[in-house]
Amino acid sequence: MSNGRPTKAVIPAAGLGTRFLPATKATPKEMLPVVDKPAIQYVVEEAVQAGLTDVLMVTGRNKGSLEDHFDRNVELELALEKKGDPDRLASVRAATDLADIHYVRQGDPRGLGHAVLVAAQHVGDEPFAVLLGDDLIDERDVLLARMLQVQDQRGGSVVALMEVPQHQIHLYGCAAAASTDEPDVMAVSGLVEKPSADEAPSNLAVIGRYVLSPAVFDVLRETAPGRGGEIQLTDALQTLAAMSPENGGGVSGVVFRGRRYDTGDRADYLKAVVRIASDRDDLGPDFVQWLGEFVAEQQGNQGTS
Ligand code: G1P
Repeated sequence: MSNGRPTKAVIPAAGLGTRFLPATKATPKEMLPVVDKPAIQYVVEEAVQAGLTDVLMVTGRNKGSLEDHFDRNVELELALEKKGDPDRLASVRAATDLADIHYVRQGDPRGLGHAVLVAAQHVGDEPFAVLLGDDLIDERDVLLARMLQVQDQRGGSVVALMEVPQHQIHLYGCAAAASTDEPDVMAVSGLVEKPSADEAPSNLAVIGRYVLSPAVFDVLRETAPGRGGEIQLTDALQTLAAMSPENGGGVSGVVFRGRRYDTGDRADYLKAVVRIASDRDDLGPDFVQWLGEFVAEQQGNQGTS
């Protein structure tokens, strides 16, 4: 352990990206651009921002471009140097210098719990974070750093929770949770993967950030396939929630009320691109003006049709 402070982040990136076919036929979904950076780079930047500079990506087949993106591209760098384009050169180097990135392959894709289990050897016996690439957290809103702080104070594992409308809860893991003396922290007593609205214990959805006790690995080894025949991280967390703190058990939830973009969903992906482009100093002013005109034009068309 390095002074007890987590330093490692695990990013599962072995998914097939079926919701984005055909774009993801030959390109990993993690490489889809959000404005001018691949989605996965925002996630790595978020981990680094929270002090997690050792990043393990759990990949699968056809993920070569992911590795290339975070590797040096000497030819390109030389060409940009020769051209005298320092800004682009810096943007190309930024991805390489960001973090200490490692890769492991998942082999059989047997679910998110299985992807996390594949990280066991790299992580060792210390708490670590898991970041799901489909969820982007706006860099102006703090989540992971707060979760690490809560893990440090309370031990066990920490999930990120977000209130969602009841009709959306079937898309998420859902937590049974009680409030604590801190307004943004919940004590989690149970978790269920993608319940129907009737069965959901709350409207608190688990979103794609976790800080996990290494006890999760032994639990995952014993976790039978659950929903969809996959080994679910949510099921392992349910077991951890019932275990005593001496054994690494206990689950807390940090309630997130900031901006989150689900880049795994096409409509939300488009919204993320628009929002992030609008907020950029270099693109925002012109883009927002165009957007205003475009929307007015659309509404005008609707009014006349
Ligand atoms: C996964 C988890 C789910 C969680 C969600 C957050 O589901 O299994 O518990 O709520 O991520 O994005 P997926 O979206 O991969 O189906």
